[in-house]
Amino acid sequence: MTIKKTLLPENELKPLSKDPLQLGFGQTYTDHMFTLEYDSEKGWHNAEIKPYQSLKLDPAAKVLHYGQEIFEGQKAYKSSSGEILTFRPKENANRFLNSQKRMCMAELDPDEFLFYENELLKVEERWIPTVKGTSLYIRPTAIATESGLGVKASTKYLFFIILSPVGAYFKEGFNPIGLWVSDEFSRAAEGGTGEAKAGGNYAGSLFASNIANENGYSQVLWLDAKEHKYIEEVGAMNILFIIDNKLVTAPLGGTILPGITRKSVLELAKDLGIETVERKISIDEVTEGIESGKVTEIFGAGTAAVISPVGKLNYKEKEYVINDNKTGPWSQKFFDTLTGIQYGELEDKHNWVYKVK
Ligand code: PLP
Ligand code: COI
Repeated sequence: MTIKKTLLPENELKPLSKDPLQLGFGQTYTDHMFTLEYDSEKGWHNAEIKPYQSLKLDPAAKVLHYGQEIFEGQKAYKSSSGEILTFRPKENANRFLNSQKRMCMAELDPDEFLFYENELLKVEERWIPTVKGTSLYIRPTAIATESGLGVKASTKYLFFIILSPVGAYFKEGFNPIGLWVSDEFSRAAEGGTGEAKAGGNYAGSLFASNIANENGYSQVLWLDAKEHKYIEEVGAMNILFIIDNKLVTAPLGGTILPGITRKSVLELAKDLGIETVERKISIDEVTEGIESGKVTEIFGAGTAAVISPVGKLNYKEKEYVINDNKTGPWSQKFFDTLTGIQYGELEDKHNWVYKVK
């Protein structure tokens, strides 16, 4: 695994943003990127770290026509002693491989994925913001590059990694957000690609997201595609509920993304002494539970979203307010514990934190 490195001279490096808390999400990129090519003769080859630049693609490249594309989302953090930390990176590398398999793409060995990612992070270390609430977002991506309009799996791919210093994903920061429950559109059906991190899943979600935004809500809360009855997940995060003092979330069943934050929260719940239940949750149970007081908190969990409390739900044009639109105690506890571990401030009992350097 050798990487050709073409690095910019110091005087051509971009200035870092002055106030990391104003970064928002995914708007600036670091000086360099990683690229790796694949074709069926050579396998994966040409590993390079080079200045961030546009890609050169044939207009008939299969990704542009048939959407053969997958990606991951991770974050790198800087500890107070200056270490570069990532969170459960093997989980992302393995999920990337699963997504590649589902989308019939060339498979990248998870150890290679991690080696390349770590090398890029070391080159771009100065871009990791140190203020709590900020991090360096990592976007590993694979696209089908073979030119040809026949609908079949590409024989050529490009794997690349770009990095972006980020703050909060939502404009609300880490304050409660509002969700729009869609009972008209669905994100993924059984047997579909919902559990792969495929760009097409997100393209298909935009129509309903726009409706949510037009009505003043941040994201869509998706229901199952068959009955429009059971909770699935949110546009960019999994969703968890405190119902009768238990942490309840939808089971993984092929239609939702197996989130690493979701999995971590379920494991942390055991340390924090709250019972967890993975089961089907109907939207009626949620709305009735909010009204009766059985549902006391709702929060989303994801890499970009971290732990995002949900203060409002709109279902069938009725708004339901959760915990007075304030961050509840469990949401806060999960946020504090998870980010404490991620930033290297709390004990990492589960060995989740990987020290890149
Ligand atoms: N669900 C969707 C649709 C997502 O895009 C994400 C973000 O990656 C998640 C859930 C949460 O996954 P993770 O916690 O692995 O970031
Ligand atoms: C992430 O949390 O990393 C995601 O991929 C969500 C996103 C689509 C911004």
